[in-house]
Amino acid sequence: MASSNQRHLGADPAGQRDRRYVWHTWSPVDPERSHPMFSHGEGYRLWDVHGREFIEASALNSTCGYAHPAVVRSLAEQAGRLQHVDLSLSTHELAGVLAERLASYLPGPLNRTLFVNSGSEGIDAAVLMAVQFAEHAGRPRSRVISFARGYQGATLLSRSLSSLPRNRHPLPAPVPATLVNLPVPPRELRRPESLPVLLEAFARAIDADSAEPPAAVVVEPFLNVGGGVVLPDGFLTGLRQLCDRVGALLVVDEVFTAYGRCGRMFAVNREDVIPDIVVSSKGLAGGYAAIAAVTVTDRVHDSFSADPVLGGLRYGHTTSGHAVACAAALATLDVVEKEQLIERAERLGGALLDRLAPLAGSGDVVDVRRLGLIVAIELTSEAAATAVVERARDAGLLVRRQSDAVLIVPPLVIDDDGVEQLLERLGVALPVRV
Ligand SMILES: Cc1ncc(COP(=O)(O)O)c(C=O)c1O
Repeated sequence: MASSNQRHLGADPAGQRDRRYVWHTWSPVDPERSHPMFSHGEGYRLWDVHGREFIEASALNSTCGYAHPAVVRSLAEQAGRLQHVDLSLSTHELAGVLAERLASYLPGPLNRTLFVNSGSEGIDAAVLMAVQFAEHAGRPRSRVISFARGYQGATLLSRSLSSLPRNRHPLPAPVPATLVNLPVPPRELRRPESLPVLLEAFARAIDADSAEPPAAVVVEPFLNVGGGVVLPDGFLTGLRQLCDRVGALLVVDEVFTAYGRCGRMFAVNREDVIPDIVVSSKGLAGGYAAIAAVTVTDRVHDSFSADPVLGGLRYGHTTSGHAVACAAALATLDVVEKEQLIERAERLGGALLDRLAPLAGSGDVVDVRRLGLIVAIELTSEAAATAVVERARDAGLLVRRQSDAVLIVPPLVIDDDGVEQLLERLGVALPVRV
């Protein structure tokens, strides 16, 4: 028998309930607007509540796809044994196992991991660490340098490191930030000749305030929300040298790029560079649980043992390093290794680019670029990109708009057959035939 609430909600109770009670993240408040409602998924496919099937290429955190049996089993087993204990008071075995595993993937002395629950919190923690580190070194600083077109998160601190329109807020900025504009259009940035121009722009920002050199430079190795922008090879290495010149920490925001998405375990593995702090999240537990990692060098970590003010890092959350999330992360990493998903990401990303690159310059398509298994199709406007996303959804393909680009980010478990079907559906949606 229908509950009184269901009767009140009418013919589509689930949809109406959602519109009535859920405040959706990053969405305009519009009583008429409904979000597609999904009921289940498997691998790279999703089904909505009406039984319609979609190919998923919009989830930024999907590593093993939906309902991977090994990850599901591991989550359930851990929840049944010990869901979590507070890491400020005690510990559980998986925290150490996971932190050790991250240290084995990252270069040099990046050995120590603070776990948090989201990428934004990870960036907040990294900036706090950099500011406290400067204090420990006896030269207090709080200025941060970042890309104006970067996206570091939704918290007050992380969103202050960007001037993307969606990041505007009416509160005073918690740290002074010097934001670097792209010196050339996104489609030109990946060219080798853009490297010195880009580094020069960062050098100017670093030197902008001679009274206060920056505590940290925080950058993504690929601008995700800023429009799927590929940076020139050697950028992180050049930035490392600029940071060393003024004693600033290099913080690399790998929230999106890590764990195979970029065609390596981490984007920093693409260059011979050792940042001071690497923040990672999305692919780590593949969307099965909330977890982020702030991995720092021994030098940064050890400076806190003699913290004169706080006696350590006063930061954390009740669910930091949640045991079920650690179990999901370890199972996800096992799948990445056993199913060779990194090699697959690089190969299938290359195959997608081969097929889509010829579209550049025709119709509304300005540029097609990629890193690992992230393909960005830049269009002439945000409206043109939105139209492609909507037509793709009608054709049974989920992609996402980031600024004026359409991003194609299938789960890393997609196979050759899945890529063919994805291209077929995309061909219906693009202004030019694939
Ligand atoms: C590069 C980057 N940094 C930080 C974040 C923020 O992560 P979260 O949404 O988990 O807070 C995102 C999310 O899209 C991101 O892409």
